[in-house]
Amino acid sequence: MGHVHVLDHPLIQHKLTYIRDKNTGTKEFRELVDEVAMLMAFEITRDLPVTEKTIETPVINTEAKVLAGKKIGLVPILRAGLGMVDGMRKLIPAARVGHVGLYRDPETLQPTEYYFKMPSDISERELIVIDPMLATGGSANDAISSLKKRGAKHIRLMCLVAAPEGIEVIQEAHPDVDIYLAALDEGLNEKGYIVPGLGDAGDRLFGTK
Ligand code: PRP
Ligand code: URA
Repeated sequence: MGHVHVLDHPLIQHKLTYIRDKNTGTKEFRELVDEVAMLMAFEITRDLPVTEKTIETPVINTEAKVLAGKKIGLVPILRAGLGMVDGMRKLIPAARVGHVGLYRDPETLQPTEYYFKMPSDISERELIVIDPMLATGGSANDAISSLKKRGAKHIRLMCLVAAPEGIEVIQEAHPDVDIYLAALDEGLNEKGYIVPGLGDAGDRLFGTK
């Protein structure tokens, strides 16, 4: 079964509190999501392999560590996942970015895929699927299944806030996928919103409500 990692660094928790606050406006919301994504990228890449190379410092030749060149792919789920991409790319600038477009029907809560575009070598990449919200788990489940169908082999899921219901769906359907969160919340309300959550992430990021 995939592990759930709750990244409870104080800076992440502090910023998440303001992201949750309904009085936080679109500009500040977007900036905070960007900052938290960058901090989460720092944690999620903790196990990347490093190798050594010889460099010359102003003092002496020495062996020093560099990333071993593992290929990373970021896969935001549209729309809301887009809000986390730039923050992650600040730390992982060489990452390629693929996109999965999914929207959740407000009545049935079922996701529908409307867009899919990936780098050609997804089977060789460590993919990080990004979405601020893991609610019923339907959207992330579909996105991960689509990636696997197209050959993806190594996938992690990164979300700001998750409900236990969504975690269960991913762990059941994709036991090979580790999940990285800023917070694990209480559950879902009757409309499928995460409680306490942060509301509609896409609308708050893009000012569409
Ligand atoms: C939201 C969110 C997730 C999904 C989570 O997207 O960004 O993708 O809902 O819900 P689930 O776990 O129950 O599937 P939404 O469908 O509202 O689209 P948007 O990002 O375009 O606003
Ligand atoms: N999608 C959101 O944007 N927010 C939720 O709480 C659940 C799904």
